[in-house]
Amino acid sequence: MRVLVGLICLGLFVLPALAADKIAGQVAKLDFSEEELFKIGETLFNTEGANTCLKCHGAGGHGGDQVGAADLRHPRTWRSYQALGGDEAFNADKDAFLANMETIIHSLIRQGAPIWNQRFAKSHKDIKLDWSKVTIPDKVDKYNSMMKGITSGPMKKALKAVGKELAGNGKKLKSSRLKDVAAVASYMYVRSFDDGSDKAGVFK
Ligand code: HEC
Repeated sequence: MRVLVGLICLGLFVLPALAADKIAGQVAKLDFSEEELFKIGETLFNTEGANTCLKCHGAGGHGGDQVGAADLRHPRTWRSYQALGGDEAFNADKDAFLANMETIIHSLIRQGAPIWNQRFAKSHKDIKLDWSKVTIPDKVDKYNSMMKGITSGPMKKALKAVGKELAGNGKKLKSSRLKDVAAVASYMYVRSFDDGSDKAGVFK
């Protein structure tokens, strides 16, 4: 009996670790410091040109050109935050909530919305999304396909340059790992925009 209880307790700790985000898991193996990742995220986000994070979202995450682009200072207004259950779910279990948000957004940035919309739910049945809780005027059960993440031409080019620089510093990554790094790094940078207002205070 005692062994059984022990095993169940162990399961409670081990299972969330197993369910953790695959993209983050790949990047964790690569031995980057937080500072290095943050710098990569900063470089990628601030890439100039059409169809870039900067162009659509604006410097500091707001005031960009793309209609309907999320205000990156205000995570409580984001589709993922609301579809995961909003404040109630966030307050009930912050760690689990943020882990799910990370899984959603890493994959959104890496694949872009059109692919995310087709694939995410099928490969992540453990993450429950209730799209009826979304207050964004367009309440559909998917992301706006303009959210291209790193999939646009200019972002791919910027990522290639980052890859070249890393290779020059002795860290040669294959393209899929580089995309994982880009997703984790740019999401890390985006979290620094949280302005602590009543629409924010999720990451800080
Ligand atoms: C071509 C324009 C465009 C580009 C490029 C773009 N985004 Fe977005 N982004 C959007 C739009 C539009 C939304 C709102 C999506 C929605 O609510 O359906 C969005 C939403 C988001 C969100 C909120 C996700 C959520 O759960 O609601 C994050 C975070 C984000 N973008 C980060 C990024 C990062 C980082 C990059 C660059 C690597 C990037 N975006 C590139 C248009 C863009």
